[in-house]
Amino acid sequence: MRIFILIAAAIVAAPLLGLGGFYLLSEAKFREVTRDSPFEAAIPTDATSIEHGRHVARTRGCFGCHGQQLQGKDFDEQWDWPERAVAPNLALYAREHDDATLEAAIRQGVGANGKALISMPSYNFARMSDDDLAALIAFLRSAPVVEIDLPKPKLGWGVRWTFFTGEEKHMAEWADAVPPLRFDGEEEPQRAHGEYLAMTMCNECHGLDLRGATLWDAVTPDLIVVSAYSREEFEKLITTGVAMNGRELGLMRLVAPDRFPELTDEEIDALYLHLTSLVDEPVPSPVFWRP
Ligand code: HEC
Ligand code: HEC
Repeated sequence: MRIFILIAAAIVAAPLLGLGGFYLLSEAKFREVTRDSPFEAAIPTDATSIEHGRHVARTRGCFGCHGQQLQGKDFDEQWDWPERAVAPNLALYAREHDDATLEAAIRQGVGANGKALISMPSYNFARMSDDDLAALIAFLRSAPVVEIDLPKPKLGWGVRWTFFTGEEKHMAEWADAVPPLRFDGEEEPQRAHGEYLAMTMCNECHGLDLRGATLWDAVTPDLIVVSAYSREEFEKLITTGVAMNGRELGLMRLVAPDRFPELTDEEIDALYLHLTSLVDEPVPSPVFWRP
């Protein structure tokens, strides 16, 4: 009799132990990250820098995802990925965490709990300069705190599995894969500025190297398409999301009016110069964001 009880107990326990083991292994995957040397740049306090930090936050989409008052956002209705994504209240987070923790989350894809982030597009900010980042932190700390109730994020078993098998990559892996900036600000200031802006604004969706990507079930174009645009058409596209000849776009139509209307003429000139210069360059493949 006792042997049957033992067998029955084993049958019940095995899957639970398996699940528990898998849980621990998948957690280890998110914990395998290390933070690079801590961020030590001084955080400015003057009004001009704080205003510049606001411009950085606006043009990099922090408001679109973390709420127009930085109050945080529950993505339950927009994405079913990764079961429940919740962007935290940034004004509050910036006051509760030190500079190094903010830098690790924003540029390295590592959260305050030491685990890799999942939905926060840190790879888009991996190349953000120390000056821009310091101004951004100053702005976030100065923004008024608007508190709302936010649910806890959830990570589904299926999603854990895709990370565990390597099919899906977490944000620390994405951030590590961003190519270095190639142009020198001393020798080619405008090209270097344009590359910098594109590599911290457009590579969230257009591929880590701006040469197109396969994202979820969408495909984003190689940004050499900008060569087909006049400077005027390009300005219209990035400030309104309406393409050449009045063609309506999808995601671009949502993102552009939220982020890019306040780009200065100088910033648009620099972006246009860099993106229209990409035509003659080879496109690396295969890369994981463009298999
Ligand atoms: C595409 C949407 C999106 C954009 C754009 C975005 N975030 Fe996030 N962010 C998230 C989500 C979702 C989380 C929650 C963590 C996760 O799921 O990866 C998050 C988490 C964070 C965290 C907390 C990390 C932790 O410790 O858990 C910080 C800090 C942060 N974001 C800062 C920023 C800043 C600053 C910007 C703009 C430069 C920005 N985010 C832009 C979606 C976004
Ligand atoms: C949040 C994602 C996202 C960001 C950020 C983004 N784009 Fe796009 N973009 C898209 C998608 C998706 C498309 C494909 C059309 C669509 O579905 O809107 C697109 C299309 C385009 C097109 C093609 C227009 C055409 O003629 O068909 C251009 C050019 C473009 N984007 C430029 C940019 C530039 C320049 C930036 C950075 C300043 C940028 N995008 C940032 C998602 C994005």
